[in-house]
Amino acid sequence: MCSIIGYTGKFTAASVLVESLKKMEYRGYDSVGIATLDSNNILIRKGVGKVREVDDSLQLYKMPGQVGIGHTRWATHGGISKSNAHPHTDCDNNVVVVHNGIIDNYQQLKDNLIKQGHIFQSQTDSEVIAHLIETYLKKFDIKQAIIETCKQIHGTYAFVAIFKSGLVAGARLDEPLIIGIGNNGNFISSDVLGFLEYTDKAIFLDNYDIVILDDKNINLFDFNGNAISRPITQVAWELGDIDKGKYAHYTIKEIHEQKNSIPMAFQINRSSLEKTVDIISSSKNIFITGSGTSYHSALLAKYLFYKFAKIRTEIIMSSEFEYVSGALDENSLLIAISQSGETADVLNSVKIAKQHKAKILSIVNISTSSLCRLSDHYVSINSGPEIGVAATKSFTAQLAVIYSIIDNFCTNNRPLDMSTSMFSNILNEILTDTSYLEKIAEDLKSVRDIYILGTSYHYPIALEGALKIKELAYIHAEGIAAGEIKHGPLALIEPGTIVIVLNPEDETYYNVLNSIHQMKSRGAKIIGISNKNNDLYDYFIRLPLVNKYLYPIIEIIPIQILSYYLAIKNNANPDYPRNLAKSVTVK
Ligand code: F6R
Repeated sequence: MCSIIGYTGKFTAASVLVESLKKMEYRGYDSVGIATLDSNNILIRKGVGKVREVDDSLQLYKMPGQVGIGHTRWATHGGISKSNAHPHTDCDNNVVVVHNGIIDNYQQLKDNLIKQGHIFQSQTDSEVIAHLIETYLKKFDIKQAIIETCKQIHGTYAFVAIFKSGLVAGARLDEPLIIGIGNNGNFISSDVLGFLEYTDKAIFLDNYDIVILDDKNINLFDFNGNAISRPITQVAWELGDIDKGKYAHYTIKEIHEQKNSIPMAFQINRSSLEKTVDIISSSKNIFITGSGTSYHSALLAKYLFYKFAKIRTEIIMSSEFEYVSGALDENSLLIAISQSGETADVLNSVKIAKQHKAKILSIVNISTSSLCRLSDHYVSINSGPEIGVAATKSFTAQLAVIYSIIDNFCTNNRPLDMSTSMFSNILNEILTDTSYLEKIAEDLKSVRDIYILGTSYHYPIALEGALKIKELAYIHAEGIAAGEIKHGPLALIEPGTIVIVLNPEDETYYNVLNSIHQMKSRGAKIIGISNKNNDLYDYFIRLPLVNKYLYPIIEIIPIQILSYYLAIKNNANPDYPRNLAKSVTVK
């Protein structure tokens, strides 16, 4: 949720930190702060706003010193204010801390520290870390002070502290923390994007790892103070990919990147696919979980598993998983779907499933993520970095991977024709001219509600389309199973209500037409998304002809584009929807 970056090396730390924070801003973007160490003094500047704004007003990049930490915040405890922005310092400004996560027992710790005479400057849970370290430094060295602090705090955390000695220390529990080993200094960050410009050599810390580093040495310990070692991983992604290129926003760039990312996702490594099929075939009970967009992928997987593989799966939203996990056992398989591989709700579901001895198979984008490391096997969707907070290309890539897996269960008669060249042409057709969608957005920009209807495997797409409209354009939108409208939602329809229908020609076509008639006769304005026009549609968004079972992968794209234009026309920043963050690492 928040982003953390620390640096110690030959460069001026602040300018390195500012650029790193800009790259990780997707993790949280309500306030920003930097602390540097300059001639035995710790300097702190922080403020409310995005990195560029705070840097412009406070000249963060000019702060002196070659050791520093930086942070962008996504508020949990304490409002969005300068005093709640990180870094937080102890009473004497000897240690300064940035934190990502939630300290569950902070109030009790804070009360005790206040009784001991500590003075707090913020309402955050995070500030207790600085004061606890201060207390332990009176008795112990830095290493032991960090260990004692970690033993006191309950909850989830990745935190990094700098000290007047020039040392940088960090620790993690259920929040990501990664070390970057550079030729001109070392980094410690929430995401490899924080240091990829300088080095591709990374150490992924595990839970209960503590690190103390300077510009040359990196020392890792467990909570008992024993030295430990972790492998150095070479991180593969190219920096060029996180540029906006010719596009105004990452979101529209990533929507267009689907021309390549969907065909790429279909090309799963053969042996990985075979292993996946083996794991699924040998499991008695299959559960699938995910959050938000990834949950919608899971829902679609349910329809496809039933239809093409005759396999029953149970789909559980990750945030609900702990309440319905009783049926898991050693014959169960949990398939966890996550773009980031760091979503707290998903990781929590995986932990619970592991406690029940279930196997874990994951479908992820970030193959260095915590989820991959917790899984018995993972399949990569290979989408490259997705910076826009709203998931777009990762969703269609998840679907492509799910289709590829399910295709392997259709051994006698393969109904899913997924030739890559065919897909490239189809995607080109959809993405080449989007002016009609821009025009629809102009007509719709002031509406209060939008409903999206779909039946069978179009229903998860209706839910996903509604989520895109909500988060990008701040318009209330609801996905509804088309057959359900007569059981309640019809009461909301009045003249002019906007209803988008997903209605390509397949076995759902006539049922959905019935629902459209019911809407239309009550005055709804219908936007049809289909390969075939119909007089019932007030607007018609044509889909190219494709194997009828593959429509879910392409029919979401016009809704993604429409949501993008609706955001622009409502002056919302599509890359950074208000109140959201890309990587939701808190429960
Ligand atoms: C919506 C969106 C979120 C994520 C959700 C899970 O556009 O991006 O709903 O899908 O937070 O994230 P991952 O897939 O990283 O686990």
